[in-house]
Amino acid sequence: MTEKIINLKNEAIGNILEAKDEKELERLRILYLGRSGKINQLTKELPKLAANEKAEAGRLLNETKRAIESALSNQLSAICSQLPAQKEWLDVTAPGIKPEIGHLHLLTEVIREISSVFEKIGFIRVRHPEAEWEWYSFEGLNMPATHPARDDFESFFVDSKPNSKLGRMVLTPHTSNGQLREMERIPPPIRMINIARCHRPNWDITHTPTFHQFEGLVVDRGINITHLKGVTDYFALNFFGPGRKTRLRPFHFQFTEPSFEVDINCPICLGKGCRVCKSGWHELGGAGIVHPTVLRNGGLDPAVYSGFAFGWGVERTTMMKYSLNDIRPLYESDLRLIYQF
Ligand code: FA5
Repeated sequence: MTEKIINLKNEAIGNILEAKDEKELERLRILYLGRSGKINQLTKELPKLAANEKAEAGRLLNETKRAIESALSNQLSAICSQLPAQKEWLDVTAPGIKPEIGHLHLLTEVIREISSVFEKIGFIRVRHPEAEWEWYSFEGLNMPATHPARDDFESFFVDSKPNSKLGRMVLTPHTSNGQLREMERIPPPIRMINIARCHRPNWDITHTPTFHQFEGLVVDRGINITHLKGVTDYFALNFFGPGRKTRLRPFHFQFTEPSFEVDINCPICLGKGCRVCKSGWHELGGAGIVHPTVLRNGGLDPAVYSGFAFGWGVERTTMMKYSLNDIRPLYESDLRLIYQF
């Protein structure tokens, strides 16, 4: 038996080394290793052998099988390496691989949408400084030096030389500096929408240290609260959708009198009151009739002109529209969020 196996091994390896192509190799593989191949035929003879011969023959058969497999694989590599190299070619009819295309960040899209909603009713998008003198951010807005927002813990002051008239430089904590800047820039009628970055030292589920506000300002002869209410309702309907409207709730700001918090009706119950909103309303942001002192500081006569202003958070408005329950992911660049919009 041992001799038979050694002869088979020599025969197989000799034939494999002679093979000239893949087809011949496949024929030899079946001849020796196939189900009814020569190796299996010898394996079937093993039970007939005496116990001591059986073990030795089994070991030899396994070794022969591995030697044939390895000879087949080596000869295949040798045959393939002799084939003329295939020319590179391009199949212009094959379907292409679609490149991944990015898109604008949700906040940029919302800022553009807010601008376009207001531009449709004659507001003009403007940009005013985001690092600003205290006069425009506080003093000129009727917020005296003792006002808590002017504390070092509430606003980011810039470590630079103060201006003798305009005070220290601050990273705008709100967009209301745009009110005075716009009154200085052009005479009434004014219809401004100022969307800019704001900075405050807060970080929690509804606050980020950098965020955006959009500030509306309308100044002309005879402007009153009904104009403000018309514009807030127009925004609710055109930005949030059918059935949405606002209500004005009395509040206090230094630079408007009277002042309001603007609430928007809940998208689920439309103001009736439900499990989610409880009261039927969600807070949108501040608004009011421009304080006469602010008009005066902007160089306008409050006996001739009046105006309204509002300032709302872009991120909070985005959260409301898209039902986000945490503001922070908007600044975490997580593609799992970004790709959803
Ligand atoms: C103001 O900033 C006023 N200047 C708004 C105003 C303008 C009132 C014109 C009257 C007339 P307030 O501090 O409430 O108000 O901020 C307005 C909005 O900014 C908030 O409702 C909220 O949406 C957003 N906001 C404030 N702080 C943050 C913050 N840290 N992160 C994200 N959004 C914020």
